[in-house]
Amino acid sequence: ASVGMSRRVEIAPSVLPCDFSRLGEEVAALEAAGVDRIHWDIMDGQFVPNLTIGPDVVAATRAHTSLPFEAHLMVLTPDVMAARYVEAGCSRLIVHAEACPHLHRTLANIASLGAKASVALNPATPASAVAHVLDLVDMVLVMTVNPGFGGQQYIATMEPKIREVRRMITERGLTDRVDLEVDGGIGPSTIAAAAGAGANILIAGNNDPISSKGIDMLKAETFFGVYVVSIRANWWLRGIGDENVHECRSIEEAKAEAQADY
Ligand code: DX5
Ligand code: ZN
Repeated sequence: ASVGMSRRVEIAPSVLPCDFSRLGEEVAALEAAGVDRIHWDIMDGQFVPNLTIGPDVVAATRAHTSLPFEAHLMVLTPDVMAARYVEAGCSRLIVHAEACPHLHRTLANIASLGAKASVALNPATPASAVAHVLDLVDMVLVMTVNPGFGGQQYIATMEPKIREVRRMITERGLTDRVDLEVDGGIGPSTIAAAAGAGANILIAGNNDPISSKGIDMLKAETFFGVYVVSIRANWWLRGIGDENVHECRSIEEAKAEAQADY
């Protein structure tokens, strides 16, 4: 299915697979490799059974890159934590609908902190959960894994929900204002289906060359990985089927092709 070309396609790496002992260098290398933003997976050990990165660690890397930071707040108390992550240098906060009894107020509060507000939906949460707050968000994140860990299997049964959220955004005339991000298990073999269902911001984690290799390989693989993945997503959005997507033989070729595509 081909969709309007006005929708940009962005690849955002999750920091989870990065080398946590060198996060400053890692975000700098990701910027050098051409990604569009950094996706911080923040987990509090309450909302999800894992504990990752606090605001001081995010703040420590802020000066190492000029890329925008988004904080995926997989936390039980987003209202309490929001200001800390904005102070740490995150320009976008993603709260989980399931953690916000007063989601409308939480999103308005994030905007009042000067950050962009986004809302994430766990696999079992219906798209209708965001029907009455689309005017308050700049992005809806449809989880394609159960949150808590990287390296999980992409849940393809989320594609009807991606399509439904895309339809809600389109019907409200919000295509240029509200992005649709998918998160979890996205890589060269799953990106076409996710983008084809309507996602335009794609989180690359363990399933993509970006993060599965060491930092040295990262530069080569990331350029290659990001551009190949971007080409795939972009071609899919244009309705060019997977049969036309081929692996580029070099970084230069991938860049030239991606440039031509954009
Ligand atoms: C899971 C996180 C995702 C995930 C992405 O809770 O929100 O960002 O780590 O990594 P992969 O692509 O490995 O699923
Ligand atoms: Zn995430």
